[in-house]
Formats: sequence, C-alpha cells, structure tokens
Amino acid sequence: MTVTILGIESSCDDTSASVIRDGVMLSNVIAGQAVHEAYGGVVPELASRAHQQNIIPVVAEAIRRAGIDRRELTAVAFTRGPGLMGSLLVGTSFAKGLSLSLDIPMIEVNHLQAHVLAHFIRETPGDARQPSFPFLCLLVSGGNSQIIRVDSYRDMTVIGQTIDDAAGEAFDKCAKVMGLGYPGGPVVDRLAAEGNPKAFNFSKPHVAGYDYSFSGLKTSFLYTLRDRLKEDPGFIEKNRPDLCASLQATVVEILMDKLRRAARDLGIREVAVAGGVSANSALRDAFPDHARRFGWNVYIPKFAFTTDNAAMVAITGYYKYLDGDFCSVDAVPFSRVVI
Ligand code: KG4
Repeated sequence: MTVTILGIESSCDDTSASVIRDGVMLSNVIAGQAVHEAYGGVVPELASRAHQQNIIPVVAEAIRRAGIDRRELTAVAFTRGPGLMGSLLVGTSFAKGLSLSLDIPMIEVNHLQAHVLAHFIRETPGDARQPSFPFLCLLVSGGNSQIIRVDSYRDMTVIGQTIDDAAGEAFDKCAKVMGLGYPGGPVVDRLAAEGNPKAFNFSKPHVAGYDYSFSGLKTSFLYTLRDRLKEDPGFIEKNRPDLCASLQATVVEILMDKLRRAARDLGIREVAVAGGVSANSALRDAFPDHARRFGWNVYIPKFAFTTDNAAMVAITGYYKYLDGDFCSVDAVPFSRVVI
C-alpha cells in the first residue's frame, strides 16, 4: 500500500507544507515571513497572523506540486511543539480540520526529532545515503544546541545541551551588537569569509560533560567591543570581517569539542548535524575535516533542510505512521519540551 503523508510545519516564522510518498519527497513549500525583519527578531503575534494567511495557499501549493489529489493523502503530520504557541496553534488546528474532513489519521511530530530525521528525507527513490543507527546528531538552531544519541527513528536521547544560550542565539546576539540585523547568523558567516579567524580571542566555557554554554562567549565578545570602542569609535566598522571570523571559529570549536568527546567516549563514528546553524560554512567544513581525522562517516543536510521545513515533519510522520503512532483530535500544542 502506498503511504502518502502531508507534513505541516508552523512552529516559528516559516509556514511550510510537504508531501512525502513512501519516504520520497514529492514537494516541500516554504513561505518565510519578512514582517519580522523590522523588529530585529520574531514577533510571536505577527508570526501567528502570517501563518493564518499562508497556511491554505502553502498546503494547496504543496499538494499541487506533488501532482496528487488531496483525497490521496493517507495521513496528516503536524508540528506539535516546541515552538511559539500562537504559531503552533495555526498548523495544529489546520491539521485537525483536514484530518476530520478527509477522514484520515493525524500524527503529532516533535520539531526537534524532525530536525534529526531530516537526514532520512529521500529526494529520489534511489537516494540511499543515510546515517545508520546508532548515530550522534549535533542539533544546533536559534533555540537549541544539543548532542543527541539516535538509536532508532523513535529512540533519541539528549546526552548534552546548552545550559544557557543556543549557538544560533550567540551568532544572532553578537551580530546585533555589530549592527548586522536579524537573523545575524548568515551575515556573520558571509563576512567571516573575508576575515581572520585568529584575529581575536574570545573566552571558551568550561562546562561538565557534553553540555554547552554560550553566554560567556557573548559577554566576552561584548566586553571586547566595549573596550576597543573606547580607544577607537570606528573599531567595529574596521574589524567586522575579523570579528565575525573569530566569533564563528570560536562557536565551531566549542561545538566540535564536545561532539568529538561524545563520539570518542561512546565509540560512535556515524555523526550528523542538523538545525538552522548547520547552514554555517565553517561548521559544515568541520565535518569532513573530522571525517578525515577520526574516521567518522558524516551527514550534513542540504541547505533546504537545515532551517525549518515541512519535509522533515512529513518524513517523521511517515515513520510514525509505519509504527501506527497516531494522535487524537484533542492534541494541543506544547511550547517547550526536550526530546
Ligand atoms: O533551526 P532554525 O531555522 O530555527 C530556529 O531555531 O529559530 O535556526 C535559526 C538559527 C538563527 O539563529 C540563525 O542565525 C542561524 O540559525 N543560522 C546561522 C546560519 N544560517 C542560519 N548561523 C550561522 N551561520 C549561518 N550560515
């Protein structure tokens, strides 16, 4: 029997819908929300309003691009959390309406698990390169920095996580003080390409186990700027590429240091990266480098699957469907959770 899943993602500021048939992606439509740019961050109320406007055209377009009729859908999978409550409510309510009207089951998806399972999206039937279990996944985004041990599609254990800021937050906050706009991560990445990663030294945390901390780096960055601006008011303008390159190198070093330790201690050489920050070029380069040095098999998502997208929700829904793992129409979103 053919299994055709519609995935819906609305946890933050991207409205996305995707159709996956028997594990192969037929469509993945993403509508971003430019409305937040003027505010230097996502405004929850505006995000949920934009989801309301986007959800019907985005789902319709995903079904159209997949070349199917909506009556061919086997189930609808939606992001239940974590995320912004008002945003999650839009996708969840839409999924409920669709499930009732088409008389198909609903599947709730944890957004963080979906980021990890993005590695199992096949764009063509012959697409075979996927991590084998158990593997480690470094999940790095605007809200999370975690090392996850993945034993199967459903068994995931967080073995390390940030005790304060996330890696993406560190990029965004440091970018903000340099006047680089929001989200700052991609701008830092671009400017870093022309800078010297050794130009500045920022402090690195000493945290036990496989946990992370990025608030000290943020403070160290801030203090460097404050001190140097006293001597030279044009310091930031003159040193932007070097500041970005040094910041980026420090974040990547912190992330890879704990990941290396975890891989060594657990004897796992299948290592993946996921989440918005996995778009960062220095982090992406660090993976093949570690593959050469430590004999890892590494898995880096395509750019389209690094940020929030519904294909990762649909693939997670597909594996949950095979397990018969459905939810009822009274499922409510949750804003915070760990895997
Ligand atoms: O997973 P994601 O799309 O959603 C949230 O968690 O909100 O991640 C967004 C984060 C932001 O902090 C953004 O600055 C960061 O990912 N990001 C990057 C890059 N592209 C996105 N950080 C560094 N370098 C990039 N190229």
